[in-house]
Amino acid sequence: MRLLVTGGCGFIGSNFIRYYLKNYPKVSIINVDKLTYAGNLENLSDLSHSPRYHFIRGDIAEAARMEELIRKGVDAIVNFAAESHVDRSIEDPGAFMRTNIFGTFALLEAVRKVFPGQKIRFLHISTDEVYGSLGETGAFTEETSLAPNSPYSASKTAADMMVRAYYHTYGLPTVITRCSNNYGPHQFPEKLIPLMVSNAMEDKELPMYGDGMYIRDWIYVEDHCRALDQVLRQGREGEVYNIGGGSERTNLYVAKSILDRLGKPHSLIRFVADRPGHDRRYAIDFSKIKRELGWTPTVSFEQGINQTIEWYQTHREWWKKIKTGEYLDYYKRMYQDR
Ligand code: NAD
Ligand code: TYD
Repeated sequence: MRLLVTGGCGFIGSNFIRYYLKNYPKVSIINVDKLTYAGNLENLSDLSHSPRYHFIRGDIAEAARMEELIRKGVDAIVNFAAESHVDRSIEDPGAFMRTNIFGTFALLEAVRKVFPGQKIRFLHISTDEVYGSLGETGAFTEETSLAPNSPYSASKTAADMMVRAYYHTYGLPTVITRCSNNYGPHQFPEKLIPLMVSNAMEDKELPMYGDGMYIRDWIYVEDHCRALDQVLRQGREGEVYNIGGGSERTNLYVAKSILDRLGKPHSLIRFVADRPGHDRRYAIDFSKIKRELGWTPTVSFEQGINQTIEWYQTHREWWKKIKTGEYLDYYKRMYQDR
């Protein structure tokens, strides 16, 4: 089996590629990644000599190039490629529209051009953020209406709708997954957990938006990868599968857990101005994937956060290299005036 993975040099994509090659000795993977600020070749440097792994620098929005690649023989596509950070989408939404919407459309077009001669399964990686925000109770199901609130989630919603349309209109074998907040090794230190872990390790302040009582459902990235594996192999065409960690925590709880584990004082937490349009709470009902595919998360938040902190402690070089130059400019813009 030959898999085309897009955005494989990012956080979840690189974890997925490593997971897949380890568990499926007969699978080979082509990874197409544009190498934006979030794409990092070091995330997969251990695989650079593997005959079953091939990296191509490319943009999913280049439909003709994607078609050319696909025609060489691909059985399935897993589309991770995206601009993924909400704060950046607030600052500059353009890139989100281009990659998340137009890029997904271009990739779908490439698949349509070779169809039905080549029947390529298209697994599109989406997010629970397409459902908007929850009140104090309840959880998102696959039937919850879509109500995105940020340019990021709006662009992901548009992509989901395009994937859905290509299934209904052209019969492309597509599946969509919508997962909650991931954490684990190789996550870019702009997202809450790696930002707070690395800042705490450097005795820097932990910027807490608003009152800190915003709730996210946290899933360890390997649990997500296992779910994607099952959906890729057994998910029903045209369906959506929610994936969640069953670990709702407030941001304040997450920050304090990190500080406690690192033996740092809670006084490092600095309350800063809130994010505009900030979704209050996410929670996932993952009973569909559990019922149909037998998947459940296996890593508790406590276990996962310990493993994650340990990874950032033993891979200082990895994040120190990122937290220079352009990143520092971003950090200043994001936090200086808050
Ligand atoms: P990331 O930002 O770490 O990685 C994105 C990758 O995509 C990078 O390697 C980047 O270089 C690449 N990329 C960007 N634009 C591209 C383009 N035009 N062509 C080719 N490659 C391009 O993101 P992530 O956190 O690994 O998220 C991966 C996917 O999972 C995204 O689609 C995201 O929406 C989704 N998702 C993420 C989370 C989360 O908690 N991180 C949760 C649910 C869903
Ligand atoms: P984030 O990791 O950006 O993921 P998302 O916005 O996609 O859920 O943020 C997770 C939560 O943490 C969200 O409620 C915003 C909050 N947050 C902070 O309080 N401080 C920060 O520095 C960051 C990056 C996020």
